[in-house]
Amino acid sequence: MEMISSLMFVIVFMTTLVFSIIFLHSKTKSLRSKTSCQLPLGTVGWPFLGETIDFISCAYSDRPESFTDRRRRMYGKVFKSHIFGTPTIVSTDAEVSRFVLQSDSKAFVPFYPKSLTELMGKSSILLINGSLQRKIHGLIGSFFKSPHLKHQITRDMQSYVQQAMDQWRDDQPIFIQDETKTIAFQVLVKALISLNPGEEMEVLKKQFQEFISGLMSLPVKAKKRMVKIVHKIIQSRRNSSTSAVAPRDVVDVLLKDASELLTDDLIAGNMIDMMIPGEDSVPVLMTLAIKYLSDCPAALHQLTEENLKLKRFKDQNGESLIWSDYLSLPFTQSVITETLRMGNVITGVMRKAMKDVEIKGYLIPKGWCFFAYFRSVHLDENHYDWPYHFNPWRWQTNRHMGTDHHLQEKDIISSYNFTPFGGGQRLCPGLDLARLEASIFLHHFVTNFRWVAEEDTIINFPTVRMKKRMPVWVKPRVD
Ligand code: HEM
Repeated sequence: MEMISSLMFVIVFMTTLVFSIIFLHSKTKSLRSKTSCQLPLGTVGWPFLGETIDFISCAYSDRPESFTDRRRRMYGKVFKSHIFGTPTIVSTDAEVSRFVLQSDSKAFVPFYPKSLTELMGKSSILLINGSLQRKIHGLIGSFFKSPHLKHQITRDMQSYVQQAMDQWRDDQPIFIQDETKTIAFQVLVKALISLNPGEEMEVLKKQFQEFISGLMSLPVKAKKRMVKIVHKIIQSRRNSSTSAVAPRDVVDVLLKDASELLTDDLIAGNMIDMMIPGEDSVPVLMTLAIKYLSDCPAALHQLTEENLKLKRFKDQNGESLIWSDYLSLPFTQSVITETLRMGNVITGVMRKAMKDVEIKGYLIPKGWCFFAYFRSVHLDENHYDWPYHFNPWRWQTNRHMGTDHHLQEKDIISSYNFTPFGGGQRLCPGLDLARLEASIFLHHFVTNFRWVAEEDTIINFPTVRMKKRMPVWVKPRVD
């Protein structure tokens, strides 16, 4: 019996293999005959599995980019593969990735793993395209950039950071990953729906964890409960007539918009969906910065000096820090930039081709997935000297470097080779907020404490995080 089923398995497997090869071969041939461009080189691996196993085993290692590095050497910067059940064009070419991210939804639409798509509503900002996406993206983006919000966030975050740090003791480790997660969640929820820390915030946090963990039927129930909380908030806003005052959060911004497309259901669902990209990324950025600084005493020293100088200056003048103070420290900004480059909080983004697209002589066939793999670009020695070396000084202007061939930080940040926040139509609207939060956290951490970090390692898959949640032993500074 066992023999027969094994034989059956082999027959089915071989038949599938042959059909898959014939199918892909004929598809490639018909595509080639229609266009002068060619499918990028590469292999689609095993039927169904494709190259997924190799991709995942590399992703779990400390060099996830070894998957792309190997293929880059064999096939070039853009190659074809088959990962997570989909034929995929992987790009480690900054120019090609930029072109795709700049394209509109007639050419490419977002592509997320099915497990994630199922959590989002149909009108989620992460999934929708065209004018509605541009509208919501624009409204949120300009709100997150506004000095008014930055001022409010800075004030709120200072108190969240203070509350957290007041609890820290020197006879037990502090888990930076957990601490930053709590603080960043409070900031995010405040910016989205103006909820303050308290019982309801705790409910929301717990429900969000259930939602994101993707356990069977729990996410659906968790999302329903969270949407209910937001609906209640929307209702109370609609009942009170405070339309003259500046919007205090994203709900206000979307409610103020007169367009009938922005229904209460759409707004409520999106408040939760927007937590998906915002919830984990900022704490990871802060945690990685602490990790890299712990391993680089020279950078930590310079960052601490810069922040202490600002603190003393403000103390002497009896002033409190405002958002622009935090962003005014050049070395601190370089530390954040370098952390984004090396840490690759978001490894890359995915799109699905809606039609055959030709770029730089490559063909991206309709229906295929396109994976813009930022990590390889950020760690490419052609773009960055000693790419695995944490070197915030590389971002300093030529004045600081004493050389004349380094670009100004702002130029590099807007260059093709540095895209931690994506680009084009879906450039992260939360990027200013993320940088501000990281700046505030670093300032208070280094000016209030000295610390010794326990040994810990970075895990890169499925999301970036620290294996042991980054335990550190802190001592209040006495200087
Ligand atoms: C270090 C922190 C962050 C990183 C590295 C990051 C990175 C990214 C990237 C790479 C994208 C592009 C996705 C794509 O093109 O498919 C994106 C989109 C997005 N991010 Fe962020 N993000 C961060 C923080 C935040 C925060 C704090 C928020 C606040 C809510 C946020 C909200 C969003 C939203 C709503 C989108 C989707 C935009 C759209 O599709 O129109 N992100 N983010």
